[in-house]
Amino acid sequence: MTGARLDARVPQREIPSVYARVAWIYDAWAALTETRARRACVAKADVRDGETVLEVAVGTGLVFRELVVKNPSGRTEGVDLTEAMLSRARRKVEGLPGRHRLRVGDAHQLDFDDATFDLLVNNYMFDLLPERDFVPVLREMRRVLKPNGRLVLANLTVGQGRVERIYEAVYRISPALLGGCRGVALAPFVENAGFASVRTERVSQLGFPTEIVTARAT
Ligand SMILES: C[S@@+](CC[C@H](N)C(=O)[O-])C[C@H]1O[C@@H](n2cnc3c(N)ncnc32)[C@H](O)[C@@H]1O
Repeated sequence: MTGARLDARVPQREIPSVYARVAWIYDAWAALTETRARRACVAKADVRDGETVLEVAVGTGLVFRELVVKNPSGRTEGVDLTEAMLSRARRKVEGLPGRHRLRVGDAHQLDFDDATFDLLVNNYMFDLLPERDFVPVLREMRRVLKPNGRLVLANLTVGQGRVERIYEAVYRISPALLGGCRGVALAPFVENAGFASVRTERVSQLGFPTEIVTARAT
């Protein structure tokens, strides 16, 4: 199975220092290339107030804030590997009603019991992971979802356009400059990890293509 044209070139142990360096500019970059995809992702997540919701790799909390706002009577948890990103996310949800918590955590080993969540959201993280981690991390996500729980993923994906070719050329020279993100195609891995009803959609902004994958835990 091939899910990416390029290998992950920033080792996971370096992620916190790479993202600590870009945290201050992250929201501006994200607004330019990913606003449309994040909006689609929140719509697909379709949070129903009172649910138990987890976002993995919350970053600066752009989506986490939306999830919290839609879930004032529920519980919304968020984890990320990078404290510098989490501290920005905490500022975005300060004072919002509902039970919400943000803490350092690794997608490879989620610190939650089996079958805890109705919904798990994860954006622009698999594009940093080595391909060999895709299925183990997806299985870990499946473990913490309730049976029939919803999975919503968004990732930079592979394409043939001019912007993608330029992006890939920059990535080959300096992957850390791009936060280690390269295009991936996740759907076959989601199926392989035991999810059902796997659907994909592409959203493009300024030539940057995002793949949104939705699925159900079995
Ligand atoms: C490109 S940012 C995306 C942030 C956010 N999801 C968004 O869409 O704006 C990637 C984030 O993934 C986090 N990350 C990378 N590997 C991770 C892992 N194994 N577990 C949890 N978070 C991780 C990084 O710290 C960083 O905040």
